[in-house]
Amino acid sequence: AASTQCDLALFGALGDLAQRKLFPALFQLERAKLLHPQTRILALARQEVDEEAFKAQTLERFKALLPKNDLDDAALKRFFGKVRFQQLDFGDAEGYRRINEWRGDSEDPLIVYMATPPAIYGMIGENLKGADCIQPSTRVVVEKPIGHNLESSFEINDRLAEFFDESQLYRIDHYLGKETVQNLIALRFANNLFATQWNQRYISHVEITVAEKVGIEGRWGYFDKAGQLRDMVQNHLLQLLCLIAMDPPSDLSAGSIRDEKVKVLKALKPITPDLMETHMVRGQYTAGNIDGKPVPGYLDEEGANEGSSTESFVAIKAEICNWRWAGVPFYMRTGKRMPQKLSEIIIHFKPAPHYIFDPDQKHLANNKLIIRLQPDEGISLQVLTKDQGLDKGMRLRQGPLQLSFSEAFNTGRVPDAYERLLWEVIKGNQYLFVRRDEVEYAWRWIDQVIEGWAELGLPPKKYPAGSWGPVASIAMITRDGRSWYEDA
Ligand code: BG6
Repeated sequence: AASTQCDLALFGALGDLAQRKLFPALFQLERAKLLHPQTRILALARQEVDEEAFKAQTLERFKALLPKNDLDDAALKRFFGKVRFQQLDFGDAEGYRRINEWRGDSEDPLIVYMATPPAIYGMIGENLKGADCIQPSTRVVVEKPIGHNLESSFEINDRLAEFFDESQLYRIDHYLGKETVQNLIALRFANNLFATQWNQRYISHVEITVAEKVGIEGRWGYFDKAGQLRDMVQNHLLQLLCLIAMDPPSDLSAGSIRDEKVKVLKALKPITPDLMETHMVRGQYTAGNIDGKPVPGYLDEEGANEGSSTESFVAIKAEICNWRWAGVPFYMRTGKRMPQKLSEIIIHFKPAPHYIFDPDQKHLANNKLIIRLQPDEGISLQVLTKDQGLDKGMRLRQGPLQLSFSEAFNTGRVPDAYERLLWEVIKGNQYLFVRRDEVEYAWRWIDQVIEGWAELGLPPKKYPAGSWGPVASIAMITRDGRSWYEDA
């Protein structure tokens, strides 16, 4: 379709993000024949390498990252046929002429992907403008972190706004590109069954777990200044929370969805210093074992500052102050060096108002909806049925009504988040991207949490690598008579 015709200029083409995620994703789009035959990709990097070397290096990464079967020669040939490499010092205003030379008289929309540190988004915008590369049809994709607090996010967003309209900006949160995250929208708003139950009358609490096995992967410089709260909660977890908690949008447009998400962020109850003790746990991993192999503690990682009190784990009990969610805690936890890579959301429904079965099974009697993002994307609803066998009487049994996407639909591979998000940018669809006010309301809430911590001056609680976080994070939820869900 003509509407997917575009040129793509990618700044930071030799960086980790571009090499690990963006080029493989673009290749997969080409393999699926989604890139328009006329689409061209300009890879821009500071480094002095020639085009052949760039392509060879990128191909090597494909071989390391993608399944062998995906690397079909015809698709590779088509893909690399679209790619040009251009060395560019991003501060060299004059050099941006080369982008125009590459564009020639093309009138296709230009998509600019800034896979660079946010500190230079403004400079790139300014130089693009100076070289007359920006048209109303231009789209710009930027990555997190948009600042490290509200104030710095203002600076970055203000700079971008000097050169681009909000309708041209695509702020990536790659969690929004995950298959199950989008399914959450379908599940909630296409199934009246759930829609009618989705509030404080029927839901007791919600859990969001985003556990990672990896440590900080050589990113000490970045991570130690950020910490897990800024790196994961401000964006990914709050985005998940918004999609679970938002009111039904009136349509699927970016404006409608983002308006509803913002309302959730505005309704988050501040975690003031007096709540810190009961609503928040910060952790830092010590040496331990992952998959039976010893791994170093956070403070022993390469380049570590031994006195660091940055957190690699956070658990938060969040509350949303509105009619739908009053009294329903959202327990969130995320950490590095946990026993498995697992992201899931669990909606706990309240028990039936009157219970008539075995008293000793009463604790079973509430439904849970489990929404699994990774691994094994799927949705499962825990329901109670009668146990089989004449001797069982009316004993209850809890089991899943299950929908495993791979088993049920056999649709082959699940596209990576970046494939989906790049495809949406190409189509000019902003609904899976984060609007400026969302970033800002999220920071507002995070900032006061961070200030509260600072005020109390408490060090993070230790947890051994390979565990589910500090004991205090378990205490946080048991205090409310609940526990973190464990897969049986
Ligand atoms: C990134 C964070 O945004 O998300 C990383 O900066 C984190 O620290 C990563 O490891 C997790 O993403 P995923 O898709 O592997 O769950």
